[in-house]
Amino acid sequence: MNVFHYHEVTKHRVGRYAKSAGYMDWENEPVPFRSFDGTEVLRLPFLEKDPDVLYDDIFQRPMPSKGISISAAANFLELSLALAAWKSYGGNSWALRINPSSGNLHAEETYVLFDDSENSAAALYHYNPYLHVFEKRAAVDTMVWKKMEDYFGVRGFFVALTSIHWREAWKYGERAFRYVCLDVGHAVAAMSVSASVFGLEATVLSAMPCADIKALLGLEKTTWIDHEEEIPEVVLFIHERTQVEIPRLMPDELINHLKTLYFTGSPNRLSKTHTPWGIIKEISAATEKPATEYTNGPRITKETAISATLKAASHVIRTRRSAQRYDGKTHMPLEVFLSILKRTLPGTLPFNVGIIPVAGAVFVHLLVYVHRVTGLPQGIYLFVRDEGEITAMKSRMSADFLWEEISAGVPLYLLVRGDFANAAARTSCGQEIAGDGAFSLSMIAKFADIVGGAPYMYRRLFWEAGMIGQMLYLESEAHGFRGTGIGCFFDDEVHHQLGLQDNYYQCLYNFTIGSAVEDKRLTTLAPYHQLK
Ligand SMILES: Cc1cc2nc3c(=O)[nH]c(=O)nc-3n(C[C@H](O)[C@H](O)[C@H](O)COP(=O)(O)O)c2cc1C
Repeated sequence: MNVFHYHEVTKHRVGRYAKSAGYMDWENEPVPFRSFDGTEVLRLPFLEKDPDVLYDDIFQRPMPSKGISISAAANFLELSLALAAWKSYGGNSWALRINPSSGNLHAEETYVLFDDSENSAAALYHYNPYLHVFEKRAAVDTMVWKKMEDYFGVRGFFVALTSIHWREAWKYGERAFRYVCLDVGHAVAAMSVSASVFGLEATVLSAMPCADIKALLGLEKTTWIDHEEEIPEVVLFIHERTQVEIPRLMPDELINHLKTLYFTGSPNRLSKTHTPWGIIKEISAATEKPATEYTNGPRITKETAISATLKAASHVIRTRRSAQRYDGKTHMPLEVFLSILKRTLPGTLPFNVGIIPVAGAVFVHLLVYVHRVTGLPQGIYLFVRDEGEITAMKSRMSADFLWEEISAGVPLYLLVRGDFANAAARTSCGQEIAGDGAFSLSMIAKFADIVGGAPYMYRRLFWEAGMIGQMLYLESEAHGFRGTGIGCFFDDEVHHQLGLQDNYYQCLYNFTIGSAVEDKRLTTLAPYHQLK
């Protein structure tokens, strides 16, 4: 499968959406939570009290750490991938999570390789967020764990994500692969932020090939129900702060040990029947990561003082929600607007986790439609996350653009003045939320050159976009506004807006931010009320 082909055929076009079932097959809606029957279950503690840590502070200095323990792993998960609330309406109720997901379908599953030395030996666990428990899939020899600790040189635990494509293909058909990748990016950023709240750091093992992740998680030793298999995505090392350079892969010796592990448990069934989406299997295989060298070097961290909010980090994280509607009138102060954009700059949390095996490189930029920002003319702007790209942008985008700098030291350029609220909504599949907020944006990735030589980068470009989305969600929430990810957009309409003629740049994700109107018909319940 050629990545460019997949990308092209999964573009939504006006009057011709990417292929999907075309209706909601409620009978076969996938179960949102995976569990492994026949596994030993380890209940995880909940936070007794949220950490006394301000949201702003996590970007500016290291927070105190209580070290590595089962509680540390549980707390980290509680503020990254656990349930955040339940909503109910008209006799239906559904769980929402700390991390967002396209259609709330949550394709990702989480595994933790952890040594709880005080209570048990090392083991690989599946994390079940519905119950906030670990399901033990394999015991790991203490000597192997010791070797691992020696190799990585600092105490920590490993968190791996897999995806079940069926969960999103059920609703979105062929385009679902893109959404799953965006969700992975959101989850990675959520984990990086949560680690920092607890004084820990997250490092992506960016050079690790998918084959090694399969071995680590026993994906080939598990009997999957057809179409419900999990595919490997990413491994993060969550560790104590260190000046030591963290290796970005697991050495062969360890992987060979992991290949001998005995796995227990069988996965629950998610749907009675499935519609096969062959193209997703093909693009998934084509974008598996091979082994690569890495040139990350030491972790790059620029500490930034951007915001001025006094909200607790845990409050911002727990209350992050998508908006269903915006009021269409509230103006956002300019400093809040700039703060939200600056939070997406590379070099700071979470972009220093290193999702690609090249130090500090970023490829995604923001085409911003300003609707209601005090003191800023309405119009189309470009927020350039890597200023090295400006020359190429100027030569490839419309010759009529103004390229006016807005504020010294901020890589934001006014391209065209005017009211683009309707245009923004139109390109987002006609969704009014894209025109009714303070601003909306399209994430424009440097595409053909990056993906052409390394198909695995296709996934990672979406991860980068998802990570940006996560920071837009959090930063908006911190300032009393609300964001919404928008996966449904007419790709080439966005490209047309910029005057792009080819696929050197491509739009991967839209986003909108504004003053949300609550849907008062919904009842909100506490995240784990179902356990009480
Ligand atoms: C990748 C992605 C794409 C999304 N696309 C849309 C969209 O096109 N329209 C929309 O209204 N919401 C969209 N959402 C928002 C989700 O529907 C929302 O995250 C989900 O319902 C869970 O709610 P929560 O964000 O409040 O936890 C998207 C979210 C993500 C992460």
